[in-house]
Amino acid sequence: MEKGKKGEGKDMGKVAIYPGSFDPITYGHIDVVERALEIFDKVIIAIAENEEKRPLFSVEERLQMVKAFFKDTPKVLADSFKGLLVDYVAKTNAIVILRGLRATSDFEYEFHMASMNRSLNTHLDTLFMMTSKDYFFVSSRTIKEVARLGGGVEGLVPDLVVRRLKEKFKLPVTKKKQIGWDD
Ligand code: PNS
Repeated sequence: MEKGKKGEGKDMGKVAIYPGSFDPITYGHIDVVERALEIFDKVIIAIAENEEKRPLFSVEERLQMVKAFFKDTPKVLADSFKGLLVDYVAKTNAIVILRGLRATSDFEYEFHMASMNRSLNTHLDTLFMMTSKDYFFVSSRTIKEVARLGGGVEGLVPDLVVRRLKEKFKLPVTKKKQIGWDD
């Protein structure tokens, strides 16, 4: 990185790190990234490698989906990291951690995480963006549950993610069930 203010390297401009599991990426995440690009020159989507969470998609699969979606957006980079987020951020020239907030129910978890990260690195701030109203009910967890049970998640995740979910869950072709008194 060029000498000077943190996060303002000559090559990168103002950089935000957007960390998460992204298992898988949803339009809720994408909405946060797109709005953050109005503020930052680069957004790095940083996928946490945490096997304890027993992800549906491997880190490579998650990275591949993110990279495929943002392939024509050079201001968005994708990466993965192991260990503490603050250690990963310190290796980059990011000035801020970016997180989305959907509802007040997210707040406590996010508040704890941001406070812990700030206690580990007092120079590091977390910036929260409210998720757009169209996606406030969308989470990777509910997307996986709905997709596993054969429900439609089109419009909530990119088409390439819809396809990957269908492959993962080997979804059968659904037939209409006839319900009547003779059943
Ligand atoms: O999308 P998620 O699962 O809510 O993201 C959580 C994530 C990955 C941002 C968080 O678990 C994280 O930062 N993990 C890395 C390990 C770490 O630094 N833990 C201490 C933060 S309190």
